[in-house]
Amino acid sequence: MDESFSQSTREQLRKELLFAVGGLKSLVLNQSSLTVGLDWKKSLPANNEMKVVNTNNEEQLKQVCQEMANCQLCQLAKTRHNLVFGDGNPNAQIVFVGEAPGADEDEQGLPFVGRAGQLLTKIIEAMGIDRKDVYICNILKCRPPGNRNPLPEEISLCEPFLKKQLQAISPIVVCALGKFAAQTLLKTDTPITSLRGRFHYYDGIKLMPTYHPAYLLRNPSAKKPVWEDVQAIMKEIKL
Ligand code: URA
Repeated sequence: MDESFSQSTREQLRKELLFAVGGLKSLVLNQSSLTVGLDWKKSLPANNEMKVVNTNNEEQLKQVCQEMANCQLCQLAKTRHNLVFGDGNPNAQIVFVGEAPGADEDEQGLPFVGRAGQLLTKIIEAMGIDRKDVYICNILKCRPPGNRNPLPEEISLCEPFLKKQLQAISPIVVCALGKFAAQTLLKTDTPITSLRGRFHYYDGIKLMPTYHPAYLLRNPSAKKPVWEDVQAIMKEIKL
């Protein structure tokens, strides 16, 4: 490294490099899943012996689900009624990630089924997509008692499953719902107000942070910025 670069310039260069590598990784991952599913397979000569590797998102997702089916890694296992793994299309182009299940989700074993969930469904439909065509999950798969904030230990034990879940789905965009999901995934304590409105990367996948639907229920004026964020996502997935 050139000694004439200052520490802050080096740090800036390091961040830019990481951002570019994340972008390339995302491009390669998304290109390969599209190609394997569509054109590339068709363009193979009829007698081509080459095997098309079927990554089969659904199978991979099932495996992750089975892996954590009776998870006892943290104390939330003692108080949960149901583990809320996630729900939706294993081949989704977009994955919404929230914080943790609430009372309704814990009862039904499904993510975002309460009031905030109904608003999320409306947002998805306003994007011109059916809820069943996206994938929805949370950072934590079990409800923290009384909806308290997730603890750092709970996050570090649960996040590896989310990572595998996202690797199985390999979406084009992850939408982090709310301060908690955005800050956890981006490993930062930057306020959501500054994070939202632009793409970041999580594990090589484009990530758009936006306000949580529960926050929108309390602050309807935040609907406008959320709509801007989802429009950027729609552009990215070419809707
Ligand atoms: N809030 C969340 O963050 N996740 C849910 O599943 C429900 C409400």
